[in-house]
Amino acid sequence: MNILVCGGAGYIGSHMVKMLGNKGCNVITFDNLSSGHADAVLSGTLVQGCLSNTQALRDLFQQH
Ligand SMILES: NC(=O)c1ccc[n+]([C@@H]2O[C@H](COP(=O)([O-])OP(=O)(O)OC[C@H]3O[C@@H](n4cnc5c(N)ncnc54)[C@H](O)[C@@H]3O)[C@@H](O)[C@H]2O)c1
Repeated sequence: MNILVCGGAGYIGSHMVKMLGNKGCNVITFDNLSSGHADAVLSGTLVQGCLSNTQALRDLFQQH
């Protein structure tokens, strides 16, 4: 199952990404890294982008 975690490079999101990965989910993290860290994303795919960018969200849903 594909699961999108917005803010997945942050404190709470990175724990969510790790837990979902351990449960076998395919996790897509969407984060602009304004306060998060890429190396905190321990599972799946990190897509860097901002939630205010409509085109980036369209691309995200199309690709995943
Ligand atoms: N060790 C600890 O106990 C500890 C450490 C850090 C934080 N906290 C607590 O956790 C809470 C904060 O954690 P959090 O996970 O909500 O915040 P966070 O800032 O850690 O995570 C938010 C994530 O969202 C991303 N983000 C922000 N705006 C975005 C946008 N427009 N588009 C895409 N991504 C965007 C950021 O880059 C970041 O990765 C606070 O209550 C804080 O006190 C506790």
